[in-house]
Amino acid sequence: MKVLVLAGDGIGPEVTAEAVRVLEWFGQNRDLDIRVTERDFGIANWRKHGTMMPEETWQQIQDADAILFGATGSLEQAGAVPPEERRKGSLLRLRKGLDVFANMRPVKMLPALSEGSPYKPRVTEGVDLMIVRELTAGTYFGTPRGIETLPDGTRRGVNTHSYTEAEIRRALRFAFELARTRRQHVTSVDKANVMEAGALWREIAGTIHREEFPDVGFEHMLADNCAIQLARNPRRFDVLVTDNLFGDLLSDAAGAIIGSLGMLPSASLSEPDADGRRRALYEPIHGSAPDIAGQGIANPLGSILSVAMMLRWSANRPEDAAHLERAVEAALAKGARTADIAAPGEAAVSTKAMGDAVIAAL
Ligand code: IPM
Ligand code: MG
Repeated sequence: MKVLVLAGDGIGPEVTAEAVRVLEWFGQNRDLDIRVTERDFGIANWRKHGTMMPEETWQQIQDADAILFGATGSLEQAGAVPPEERRKGSLLRLRKGLDVFANMRPVKMLPALSEGSPYKPRVTEGVDLMIVRELTAGTYFGTPRGIETLPDGTRRGVNTHSYTEAEIRRALRFAFELARTRRQHVTSVDKANVMEAGALWREIAGTIHREEFPDVGFEHMLADNCAIQLARNPRRFDVLVTDNLFGDLLSDAAGAIIGSLGMLPSASLSEPDADGRRRALYEPIHGSAPDIAGQGIANPLGSILSVAMMLRWSANRPEDAAHLERAVEAALAKGARTADIAAPGEAAVSTKAMGDAVIAAL
């Protein structure tokens, strides 16, 4: 398995270093044949070399079996980078260029995290849901887009929320297939009451359920209602499938259940090619967190759990993936806590010490 590591900006390098150590553990101890290559990426790289990402890195991205991504720079920092250069090395280009439309964001409550959650234990207990976020279409990519000056001299910002039938279909099919490997239930989330693209989403979701997956439990839900259901009764969800923008919002909302975005991994997959191989991008969902970057206090578990998803989806090693997930649980059960998941008054460990705790548990 050729793994390309793009640690990027902010806390990206710190957390990714721990995830790479964990991945290498599997190379050394579990007979997993991996080749890890690291490449500079992002705003730090632009500062040093005048480019967010050299074109040769793009070749390596397309060549890799799996990409482990750290984080991309903050909006404020990015202001310094010319827009064209920024687009060349943007996370969105990566997602679109690899056509990784199926973004999985698992949210699983571990007993050890209960104290750190802002929700009551009776709400969080047993939460185990998977958000499937459509990742390569919708508001993030729709055209026309831009900021234009109107005849009266004031400006207007425009984005377009658009979805083709094919884009909706493949996201829904992915979600239904995933549900068959889990608790057999899909919630499809849209704003069909207001948006045409949402009405089309709902129609196609219903048809795919009826015609292809009648064995899987199914419901439609409006996105605003979904936001409150995630807070009131998150246990009701198994697979939640939604568009790119709602998926962005709702995955953060679901992250609040755990108490910290620092815990949350993700995997983004393309459709399989002729050899059945999916292109795959693995990234923690927390972002670059410039406020705590460079201090060695960020939580590496989002990145480490992304490695578990890599073992499952790119290496086809479900036992190793489960082994790693258990090791994370064990490290937490033994009391290892980074600052973001420590209960009030509880001592916190460093990024590196959390990596050590997981490797010791492995
Ligand atoms: C995420 C992030 C990204 C997104 C940002 C960093 C572009 O918030 O992966 O959820 O909006 O998709
Ligand atoms: Mg987000």
